Amino acid sequence: MIWFFQALLLLSQCWSFAVANPWDDNHQMMSAITSKVGPVGVRSHLFQAPNQAKASQSDQTIAVSDALVPEQPLILSYHNGPLLVGSNDTINMYVIFYGSFSRPQRGTLRAFFQSFAPSKQDSKSFPTVSKWWSVTRHYVDVHQSPVAKILRPAGELWDRKYSRGRQLNQSDIESLILGSTFSFDPHGIYLVLTAEDVSVKGFCTQFCGQHFYTFPKDAKGHQIPYAWVGNPAKQCPGLCSWPYSKPDEAFLGPDTPALVPPNGDAGIDGMIISLGDSLASIATDPYITGYYQGNGAEPLEAAGACKGAYGPNSFPGFPGELSIDSTTGSSFNVYGARKRKFLMPWIWNPSTLACSG
Ligand SMILES: *[C@@H]1O[C@H](CO)[C@@H](O)[C@H](O)[C@H]1NC(C)=O
Ligand SMILES: *[C@@H]1O[C@H](CO)[C@@H](O)[C@H](O)[C@H]1NC(C)=O
Repeated sequence: MIWFFQALLLLSQCWSFAVANPWDDNHQMMSAITSKVGPVGVRSHLFQAPNQAKASQSDQTIAVSDALVPEQPLILSYHNGPLLVGSNDTINMYVIFYGSFSRPQRGTLRAFFQSFAPSKQDSKSFPTVSKWWSVTRHYVDVHQSPVAKILRPAGELWDRKYSRGRQLNQSDIESLILGSTFSFDPHGIYLVLTAEDVSVKGFCTQFCGQHFYTFPKDAKGHQIPYAWVGNPAKQCPGLCSWPYSKPDEAFLGPDTPALVPPNGDAGIDGMIISLGDSLASIATDPYITGYYQGNGAEPLEAAGACKGAYGPNSFPGFPGELSIDSTTGSSFNVYGARKRKFLMPWIWNPSTLACSG
């Protein structure tokens, strides 16, 4: 229950910012404020945790992929604000590693960020990260412009000495970005990846990650979207590394064994699932005026709307039918750069009104 009330509190803050929409006439006034945020959380990867079951009684979304209950189609409404259409169809990603990350961990995360570029693999029949991303092209803004086709890693920093300690809150995350040496990029997404020994307010109790936006002083009134995602390996693998860790015992579904992670690191492979969720949510709802569904208590965005679904025939506790690597036995659903394999959450498709991957 504590979780539920905290979530309400957080999201009601979010709501007041959504009302004072910086996209409208308040633009000048809002942009004078150094930094305000509209937080939206990447929830646990599990289909339905008990607290969320209570929280979601008033909305219909959870049951949509539950074949037993015929439901009206899931709709994420468009709230007439901007989407991330990028520049020349490209969004630049700026990444801050915060704390300890091993070389293999950084290698896996970098390969993921490089996986959004078009490649020769795309013409082959197997699924790729960039083909997965193409579902976001069905989201269009008021000018009928779609979300940018390409995400491109444009900068990386490593705060290996934990400059703000090991216990962070939302202000710390924002300060890390605003205080970084990155220049402001109106077509950028800024990401903070926190190491397994860093706690972030809300991490593992409410969220696997969160996205926000802020107004840098020198940004000429532009807003920049940013997000953090934590490494859950030690703090809540059963929530934020599922299905690569056994589900948390608070989960009501079947007690299924953990799947083998494709990059050999349940924490990092779990982070990549949350990053996929975050990136899709940021691009389609950067300022909480894009596509989401919700009664105000818990907006559901592109990937959150398909929670727990990674393949066909998913149901609560079962991620769906996935590909299996015959050598390692790992489970995945997309190929990425450098022959890597990843698991991407299914995304709601506005053209079919269904989740797909
Ligand atoms: C725009 O993107 C295309 C292909 O993605 C590239 O060939 C072209 O050079 C880019 N143009 C600019 C101005 O960056
Ligand atoms: C975040 O933590 C810092 C100190 O670590 C504190 O000064 C600040 O008030 C906190 N902000 C919020 C929003 O809790």
